[in-house]
Amino acid sequence: MSVELGSEHSPSRSSAFSRWRSYRQIHRTFLVLLIIITVFALDRYRLAVTGTFTLPRRQHPEHEDVDHPSGQQLRSIAQAGNSTLGFHAIYYVNMKTRYDREDAMALQAYISGLDIQDFPAVEAEMIDPVGMPPTHRPAMLKVGEKGCWRAHANIWSEMVRKKLPPVLIMESDAAWDINVRPIMSRLNEQFVKFLQSINSTAVHDPSWGSAHNQHPLADAPVSSSRPNPPPIDYDANDPWLSAHWDLFSLGQCFEHGQDKDVKLVYPDARVPEGRDYWGVRLEHERVVRKSGGITCTTAYAISHTGAAKLLLRGAVDLDNPVDLLMRRLTLSRDLVAYSVMPPVMAQWEYLHDIGMNERGAQSDINGGKHADTPFDAEMKGWDHANRTGSVWITKAHHRDVAFDKMALGVAWEQILGDAILTNSWWDPNTGD
Ligand SMILES: *[C@@H]1O[C@H](CO)[C@@H](O)[C@H](O)[C@H]1NC(C)=O
Ligand SMILES: *[C@@H]1O[C@H](CO)[C@@H](O)[C@H](O)[C@H]1NC(C)=O
Ligand SMILES: *[C@@H]1O[C@H](CO)[C@@H](O)[C@H](O)[C@H]1NC(C)=O
Repeated sequence: MSVELGSEHSPSRSSAFSRWRSYRQIHRTFLVLLIIITVFALDRYRLAVTGTFTLPRRQHPEHEDVDHPSGQQLRSIAQAGNSTLGFHAIYYVNMKTRYDREDAMALQAYISGLDIQDFPAVEAEMIDPVGMPPTHRPAMLKVGEKGCWRAHANIWSEMVRKKLPPVLIMESDAAWDINVRPIMSRLNEQFVKFLQSINSTAVHDPSWGSAHNQHPLADAPVSSSRPNPPPIDYDANDPWLSAHWDLFSLGQCFEHGQDKDVKLVYPDARVPEGRDYWGVRLEHERVVRKSGGITCTTAYAISHTGAAKLLLRGAVDLDNPVDLLMRRLTLSRDLVAYSVMPPVMAQWEYLHDIGMNERGAQSDINGGKHADTPFDAEMKGWDHANRTGSVWITKAHHRDVAFDKMALGVAWEQILGDAILTNSWWDPNTGD
């Protein structure tokens, strides 16, 4: 076909004609090829679409593998990466003066596609000892810690009152990767396998009307013999299988070693390599595990059974800040908890030497009013801010954090492209 095209003869009338003919031939061949490819692609697409929506549930879920995911599995994985990450809602707790954190939340959610709802924090002036539960350790908790516990407890209380499906609770200084949705989808695929591998069974559900309700007036019959636990399978309506846990931490800063070997290590290309898991170096991998007891309530999912347990434990004896309440209840194995390492979320703090340390903006727990940045504060951090367009870094004590693309780190580039901060600074030379 290319003989005439490759011909080096000077173009005569007839060779021009034969060239024209061969162009036509090539065009025709291309057209036929294009039609064949289109038909083929459409057919593949149809298969993919029906595969996503109408494949019947497999008879033998234990034979499923990654190459042949069921429709339910695909839907579960998709839901786990939806705008509320497969939970009923995402709440974040914010002090009313922290507009800066509110903005950081809004910007991250905007570029990573999350739907988040503000849940008001409990301010120091709202804490009166008369409304606090008993404690066997008087004078242990700071007012800030009491307010922090109460903000979380308000959400647990609402969950218990309304028997809500699981929610994800974040503190307002939470940070995450811009690809958090695919990261959670990947986690979901592995989390269900992990629960299968440990033969997980549903946690005790004491709520009115549940199958295990022992209340004499409840409608549900009290079954004397325990029914066989149903097989664990993907469920798009409850992708995280919340009947199996009280708490699922996505953003702890420390974790106890108890149960560290009840785990599943899985590849995740969005984790930078080199994290340490109890002496083992992780590649591009994450670990989903039975929690040993967490510190930091930066981001955790909670089920209504977990909410009821924590609400009750705190109501009987408020002897610990909120995260240690969870930690100790996990250590005593009264709370069924799982976690992810490296965590999917972490706390941010401000870059140093841009005047924010001086204001006490790095933590809320001490409460109270703050002084403004003094005129002569150290300002050498602005060089970094100008180069990166970001004033946010992960908090040093979150040493396990491994973000590939921290949303707050790429927000500038996502929203303002290659704009340079100092180009919009006041120019002393022009006065403009
Ligand atoms: C995300 O998925 C969960 C579980 O299926 C569902 O409850 C929630 O409503 C979904 N979120 C949105 C915004 O549709
Ligand atoms: C789970 O159950 C299977 C089948 O009964 C058993 O072979 C396996 O050892 C169990 N695994 C664990 C972690 O208990
Ligand atoms: C800010 O960064 C840009 C690009 O890196 C550089 O050209 C500019 O000089 C920097 N501005 C200041 C004030 O350092």
